[in-house]
Amino acid sequence: MFQPTYPIHTPRLTLRPVTIDDLDDVYAYQSRPDVVRWMLGAEPRTREQSRASVLAMAGEDAWRAEGDCLTVAVVDGTGVIGTVELVWRSERDRTAEVGYVFHPDHGGRGLATEAVAALVDWGFDEVGLHRVFGRCHARNEASARLMARLGMRQEAHHVQSYLFDGQWADQLVFAVLAREWRSRA
Ligand SMILES: CC(C)(COP(=O)(O)OP(=O)(O)OC[C@H]1O[C@@H](n2cnc3c(N)ncnc32)[C@H](O)[C@@H]1OP(=O)(O)O)[C@@H](O)C(=O)NCCC(=O)NCCS
Repeated sequence: MFQPTYPIHTPRLTLRPVTIDDLDDVYAYQSRPDVVRWMLGAEPRTREQSRASVLAMAGEDAWRAEGDCLTVAVVDGTGVIGTVELVWRSERDRTAEVGYVFHPDHGGRGLATEAVAALVDWGFDEVGLHRVFGRCHARNEASARLMARLGMRQEAHHVQSYLFDGQWADQLVFAVLAREWRSRA
């Protein structure tokens, strides 16, 4: 089993497991159309759907087996401003996929970048991952910029590779290797 030593502190943030008490904060952004705009299959959530989502995330505090998703709540002085997740895609290849969702009210200050970097640090330093990758809709420019800002390389631009809202959509793939992560500025 792999589990971070909670809480994880960054200069401006605390990362810790999600709890049901986070429902109000999580619902505040999961209910917004602009937040789910580029997320596959996601619709603005009702409060009951957010409750189910928060309960599911609350169980995602560790990696117990390949395929598990680890999700952390990202907390600043105001409460939970977003979540970051790391999915254990391959035990053999020591590979994980990163994901993130933040409240737009807290955007534009580098907080998502800071939080994602902290969880990726855990994956490389504590778990010994070899590679971390992320994917986004090609029109999700904020997400692509975030991955580039982190020092992830754009490895692919898949053209019309998946159905999104009934239309063929392009997908970008970014990745970073452990040695690249350690040597970034
Ligand atoms: C993807 C997402 C987290 C990016 O949010 P964000 O606010 O752009 O990211 P950050 O909090 O890291 O802030 C970075 C921005 O702040 C700026 N910034 C200001 N101070 C900064 C600092 N100290 N450090 C880094 N960036 C800083 C950066 O220049 C950047 O702005 P830019 O993209 O216009 O150049 C957000 O858009 C989101 O949650 N979207 C909805 C969910 C989603 O689509 N998730 C991804 C699915 S693939």
